[in-house]
Amino acid sequence: MSVGPDPSLVGPGTRALVTGASSGIGEALALLLASRGAIVGLVARRQDRLDRVLEQCRDAAPESRAWVADLADLDRAEQVALEAWGAFGGVDVLVNNAGMPKRRHVTRLTAAEVGHVLRVNFEAPVRMTLALLPRMLERDRGTIVNVSSLAGRLGVLHEAAYCASKSALCGWSEAMAIDLSGTGVRVRLVNPGPIDTEIWSLPGNEDPIYDGPKVPAEECAQGIVAATEGDAFETYLPDLKAIVEAKTAAIDQFIAGSAQMEGAAARATRP
Ligand SMILES: NC(=O)c1ccc[n+]([C@@H]2O[C@H](COP(=O)([O-])OP(=O)(O)OC[C@H]3O[C@@H](n4cnc5c(N)ncnc54)[C@H](OP(=O)(O)O)[C@@H]3O)[C@@H](O)[C@H]2O)c1
Repeated sequence: MSVGPDPSLVGPGTRALVTGASSGIGEALALLLASRGAIVGLVARRQDRLDRVLEQCRDAAPESRAWVADLADLDRAEQVALEAWGAFGGVDVLVNNAGMPKRRHVTRLTAAEVGHVLRVNFEAPVRMTLALLPRMLERDRGTIVNVSSLAGRLGVLHEAAYCASKSALCGWSEAMAIDLSGTGVRVRLVNPGPIDTEIWSLPGNEDPIYDGPKVPAEECAQGIVAATEGDAFETYLPDLKAIVEAKTAAIDQFIAGSAQMEGAAARATRP
């Protein structure tokens, strides 16, 4: 009996579709996957940035391709997933990494803004997953990696919209992993903590309150590959799971402590 390559391993010929590959974690991940011989599909809005990443990916993996798409357009998100499947003859790993911040006090959020964040951070991954899932199940193999956030497992001040979108992604991933257990399709949930990317300085957001250390995007990308290949459903990068466990054990103290940070932040920014 011949034993083929382990489909859970990222290696030569693995076909990986990475959203949000024009910068930050997605860019670092795309380059890392390509360096390991994977054929990479890149998705984002900024064509110039995608072109630059694609050029580097093609040095190692010439069949790599890019799709320019605004994933807030959910029909387009689904279309890109299907186009990538067609172009590559299948997708082994779908990494739903694209995401937008929304650092805004809840009283300064509009319903339309919340809806937009939910579309990009939650509904687009859902649409891309549902487009590819029947095909993956038919082949009985595939890995869906959802890049959520520490903020998907705990509330962060001034990030209600972002937290809602990321906790939706956590819940969706967890329930999907249960539904798909026993099939060849694996689900992986990655919750980054503070990673050094553009997300901290994008326009349309209030200044971040957090100003502590941040992990390089390349280190986070290595962790995502390890999570993709490993057996654990959920991975925190860096490992800040203890914070989530502490808040779950004492939610009222967590809210009170966070509210004190809010007061301190307000005093610091008061003219
Ligand atoms: N950095 C952190 O501290 C941190 C912590 C926890 C979780 N995360 C998560 O990690 C993921 C990657 O973020 P990052 O830190 O690498 O930030 P980033 O450098 O800002 O990257 C975000 C990526 O998503 C893409 N994107 C955003 N909106 C999009 C849209 N409407 N349609 C298509 N693509 C879109 C961006 O590309 P275009 O602008 O070119 O479209 C970019 O490639 C996100 O899901 C984020 O929530 C990051």
